[in-house]
Amino acid sequence: MSVQISFDHRVQSLFPVVLVSILILGSARWILDGLKSENSEIFKTYRHKNREAVFVSDEDSLEQSCNVFEGQWVWDNVSYPLYTEKSCPYLVKQTTCQRNGRPDSYYQNWRWKPSSCDLPRFDALKLLDVLRGKRLMFIGDSVQRGTFESMVCMVQSVIPEGKKSFHRIPPMKIFKAEEYDATIEYYWAPFIVESISDHATKHTVHKRLVNLDAIDKHGKSWEEADILVFESYVWWMYKPQINATYRPKTDEVREYNVTNAYRIALETWAKWLETTIDPMKQRVFFMSMSPTHLWSWEWKPGSDGNCFNELYPINNPSYWGTGSNLEIMEILGDVMQKVRVNVTLLNITQLSEYRKDGHTTVYGERKGKLLTKEQRADPKNFADCIHWCLPGVPDTWNEILYAYLLHSHRNLF
Ligand SMILES: *[C@@H]1O[C@H](CO)[C@@H](O)[C@H](O)[C@H]1NC(C)=O
Ligand SMILES: *[C@@H]1O[C@H](CO)[C@@H](O)[C@H](O)[C@H]1NC(C)=O
Ligand SMILES: *[C@@H]1O[C@H](CO)[C@@H](O)[C@H](O)[C@H]1NC(C)=O
Ligand SMILES: *[C@@H]1O[C@H](CO)[C@@H](O)[C@H](O)[C@H]1NC(C)=O
Ligand SMILES: *[C@@H]1O[C@H](CO)[C@@H](O)[C@H](O)[C@H]1NC(C)=O
Repeated sequence: MSVQISFDHRVQSLFPVVLVSILILGSARWILDGLKSENSEIFKTYRHKNREAVFVSDEDSLEQSCNVFEGQWVWDNVSYPLYTEKSCPYLVKQTTCQRNGRPDSYYQNWRWKPSSCDLPRFDALKLLDVLRGKRLMFIGDSVQRGTFESMVCMVQSVIPEGKKSFHRIPPMKIFKAEEYDATIEYYWAPFIVESISDHATKHTVHKRLVNLDAIDKHGKSWEEADILVFESYVWWMYKPQINATYRPKTDEVREYNVTNAYRIALETWAKWLETTIDPMKQRVFFMSMSPTHLWSWEWKPGSDGNCFNELYPINNPSYWGTGSNLEIMEILGDVMQKVRVNVTLLNITQLSEYRKDGHTTVYGERKGKLLTKEQRADPKNFADCIHWCLPGVPDTWNEILYAYLLHSHRNLF
């Protein structure tokens, strides 16, 4: 009984009505982005010959025994950020918090330090070598789009002008490193399975309808990718129930509780992996939930705000907010364990839980537009505590992904 109540509270409290519209942002941005691609910036590049095989040293390899997801954030304004807003022409304005007026930039200067090892230092050329002839695809919602953009920014500065391209082909975005014949791609699929929200620009947030056993339409675009990174969470968490269709009556809409629906959807996905993925050639990752920081009382008892104006990470090692649903985490663990294809869970939830300082707050956009002065002055209603500034927290997720990719490259891809 009490479990049920607290769960309902969690789900409902994750999305106060006012925040829902933040998710609509996905839409207008596709169009606005298009205008930005003309942006000709001269950025630092250095020439490099096509190098031969990647040299992956011992320091690059992840120790088997090291849990890279357990550790702490350490101040490092020497090595971080890994790129700047100015150096990366592909960033959309949702994430460029500095350009949008955020007065502090401390959130850019934290390095994730696992307790029992170090992450390999990120080297864009090494990653490009690992990706040579390959397609790396990020699949998910607007949080995942941020992760994709982060990865592109981390890599692109080492590629000279004219040897790289960026295309928007909704529901995809594709960055290509020509000389490596490598792509980093993004595919919009907020529920992974099919839904009425799959159109990259025309999707509603308030009305959701998920087809729990339909995935093939998306799958056609995914099956050729060499490395797939999936993510799906916040779109499920709007209400405790969600409208969905499921066999055998695929045209009958019924309300499912979100945890049940999430499990069924992931099982559909798992089945798709099992029938489609060639484990000798392809590699699959799943990102766990990206945490939200909607209520400051969770880390500062008695306060009444949100993530706005938070300048530092939380340093209570056991901190876990109500935004990261434990039942969903359990489902992730269950499904990953059962699926007969190796899937690496990138369990980034805990490390990101600490980063109440990393969100776009009022220095992002809403419905495709930067906030007005009036909206900015009202962080209680307008702060976005779901998405992340870039450079920022998603860079660390990608450094961890990088560590795994180097590691498996070394141990025969
Ligand atoms: C880096 O951080 C240290 C310690 O807080 C500070 O003294 C120094 O001025 C910072 N350097 C830069 C370039 O911001
Ligand atoms: C499901 O759809 C019906 C009909 O459109 C609607 O009345 C109901 O509120 C929806 N349920 C949820 C959980 O959104
Ligand atoms: C959803 O259903 C599952 C299993 O029937 C149950 O454990 C869970 O508490 C339910 N969640 C809600 C929000 O009712
Ligand atoms: C992910 O990490 C958290 C915190 O370290 C842990 O509680 C959770 O069980 C992990 N999830 C899975 C599916 O292993
Ligand atoms: C999954 O990975 C493990 C460890 O890397 C390996 O031993 C196992 O054979 C793999 N299983 C499949 C089905 O590829």
